[in-house]
Amino acid sequence: MDMEGSPPSTANTANNKEVESQKPRKKRLLWLCVALLVAIGVTAAIVVAVLITQNVIHVGSKSSSASADSAVSGTPVPSSVDSGPGPQESGSNSNSGSGSGSKTSTRGPNSSSATSTSKPTPTVTCPSKSDIPKADQGTDLDTTTWLDLVDFNCTYTDVTVGDLPIVGLNSTWDDSTQANPDVPPLNKPWGSYANRPARGVNLGGWLSLEPFITPSMFKDNSKLGAEVDEWNLCTVLGPKQAAATLEKHYSTFITEQDFADIAAAGLDHIRIPFSYWAVVVYPGDAYVFRTSWRYLLRGIEWARKYGLRVNLDLHGLPGSQNGWNHSGRSSQVGFIIGPNGSENAQRSIDIHDRLSKFFAQDRYKNIIAFYGLANEPANTIPLDALTEWTAEAYKTVSGNGIKAVQVMSDSLRSLGTWQGQLTGYGSGLAVDTHEYVIFDNGLLAMKHTDKIKFACQTWVQQIAGSLNTASGFGPTMVGEWSQADTDCTEFLNGVGNGARWDGTFSGTIGAPRCPTGDKQCSCSLANADPSTMSADYKKFLKTWAIAQMDAFETSWGWFYWTWKTEAAYLWSYQSALGAGLMPEKANDRDWSCAQAIPTFGSLQEYL
Ligand SMILES: *[C@@H]1O[C@H](CO)[C@@H](O)[C@H](O)[C@H]1NC(C)=O
Ligand SMILES: *[C@@H]1O[C@H](CO)[C@@H](O)[C@H](O)[C@H]1NC(C)=O
Ligand SMILES: *[C@@H]1O[C@H](CO)[C@@H](O)[C@H](O)[C@H]1NC(C)=O
Ligand SMILES: *[C@@H]1O[C@H](CO)[C@@H](O)[C@H](O)[C@H]1NC(C)=O
Ligand SMILES: *[C@@H]1O[C@H](CO)[C@@H](O)[C@H](O)[C@H]1NC(C)=O
Repeated sequence: MDMEGSPPSTANTANNKEVESQKPRKKRLLWLCVALLVAIGVTAAIVVAVLITQNVIHVGSKSSSASADSAVSGTPVPSSVDSGPGPQESGSNSNSGSGSGSKTSTRGPNSSSATSTSKPTPTVTCPSKSDIPKADQGTDLDTTTWLDLVDFNCTYTDVTVGDLPIVGLNSTWDDSTQANPDVPPLNKPWGSYANRPARGVNLGGWLSLEPFITPSMFKDNSKLGAEVDEWNLCTVLGPKQAAATLEKHYSTFITEQDFADIAAAGLDHIRIPFSYWAVVVYPGDAYVFRTSWRYLLRGIEWARKYGLRVNLDLHGLPGSQNGWNHSGRSSQVGFIIGPNGSENAQRSIDIHDRLSKFFAQDRYKNIIAFYGLANEPANTIPLDALTEWTAEAYKTVSGNGIKAVQVMSDSLRSLGTWQGQLTGYGSGLAVDTHEYVIFDNGLLAMKHTDKIKFACQTWVQQIAGSLNTASGFGPTMVGEWSQADTDCTEFLNGVGNGARWDGTFSGTIGAPRCPTGDKQCSCSLANADPSTMSADYKKFLKTWAIAQMDAFETSWGWFYWTWKTEAAYLWSYQSALGAGLMPEKANDRDWSCAQAIPTFGSLQEYL
């Protein structure tokens, strides 16, 4: 997969040779440089001292970022320094209405002179309430209300693009980072995903809540009732408490360290699920409006810092596209079909219109690799209605200038369904399938070795069939999969719903039961802390994960579900990595489907 090695190493050797041949002149030059540096240093110190005494630089200011500033100005920022067409274009589009032009305000020492003239970079002092125009006080544009300012630009601005705020973003960016030496930096083309599949992970349960990923948020609420989801959580908490609870979660559940760890694990992409209330809420909605938007944007900037490419995943659509808890609201489908289905379909197009205008900005063209239209729309939505909506969404998004591969879900239909559907998009549209063996009694009942064979053979065949336009859609990717080998994880099947594995699941028709047909299966092994797992079980889990990576790399790439969970080890790449259940580097594995399946010693089936 990594055959297209990058050229920098040869360039470096060439440089080294040149330096080698200039040795005699090197010493004199060195002294000159040292003298110059000393002179510059002394001058700078004097300037800083003067500025401090004149109170231009505030020492110890809470949000002081003077040092970071100078670091930024030192990095070679690409062609983007012109701050892009974004802000200008959007001046007319400002969401503060009433024709008031776009404003920016940074409070404090009248920085106008410091900003434009002096070399010592200005200290960014965050605005205070009185610097925010009255109309925007208390809104998402009011940076004084933000819980978390880390790596956010706290300067007030009402500039929007696609009627979505840019507030919080810095003006410059740097696309020169590689996630790892096997893949190109962001500012170099990735090439064909057919030749170099993505290795990625989802940031599930972060900007779109999911009960099994953060059960603590749901467990403490006995008032939630039957539908345990983000809507009901917000309803029960009430607007104020919901806003505070969710912002705290956005701020703490995923931090910069996660992006660093993801890149360090040999992964090169992230899929970020987010929901429509990052963009808009409608009358009567219980959701917290738009707080997740800025966390999404900051997440993309952190991904950039570690060279990770992004798969944007609209996970919750108006009305709920699948009636599942992770769409925000469980129980019924209200997208295309169901209550207000056509209205919600149109709202979803409008949301994509705004999102795609925003993400068509220059700063996103290298980093947004995949643009997801709708996560897992229900398979009860008629295929022709769904493809019609998808075609319209595609047209809207590409019409606004998005060049990323657009992604449509297989909508939990077989991959073969998509043969002959939505033709003519070439490599601009990919079908996304989510592969699990645990939500189906038949697959769940497979023995350990059979699960591995199933990945290496059956899934590989299905993907091959899908990649071929004679039997499938064409571009195919695996946007979700996991290491779980049972459905035992708490809340996985909905809060209080039990598991197929131990026969406590009550959510489907047809008696779910242990594959042995008796009460032998228990969830204690699957839910155990990895430190208590046997070496054989750990070996199986690791081989099972690698088998899936190997199988899914025959497609355009894979995204593990998910990076982090509170307690579900077999759904947390991070925990599994720490427990030795994952290869240390996703891009350097010690087994493949081409090899014989190892034996797992005394590991018993159906425990
Ligand atoms: C934005 O710029 C500020 C000031 O230079 C810096 O502290 C912050 O880390 C930057 N944010 C990002 C995401 O790079
Ligand atoms: C700072 O500049 C603004 C306009 O840029 C002006 O309205 C304000 O009075 C100035 N404040 C001080 C203390 O000079
Ligand atoms: C912070 O945001 C303001 C308003 O968009 C912008 O003018 C400024 O350049 C930004 N600061 C940095 C460090 O990018
Ligand atoms: C459908 O739309 C109407 C009018 O906007 C609204 O009153 C009603 O609550 C909506 N139904 C659902 C299920 O969202
Ligand atoms: C909650 O989501 C999980 C998938 O994460 C799904 O299996 C389950 O059926 C959902 N439960 C409800 C009640 O929506």
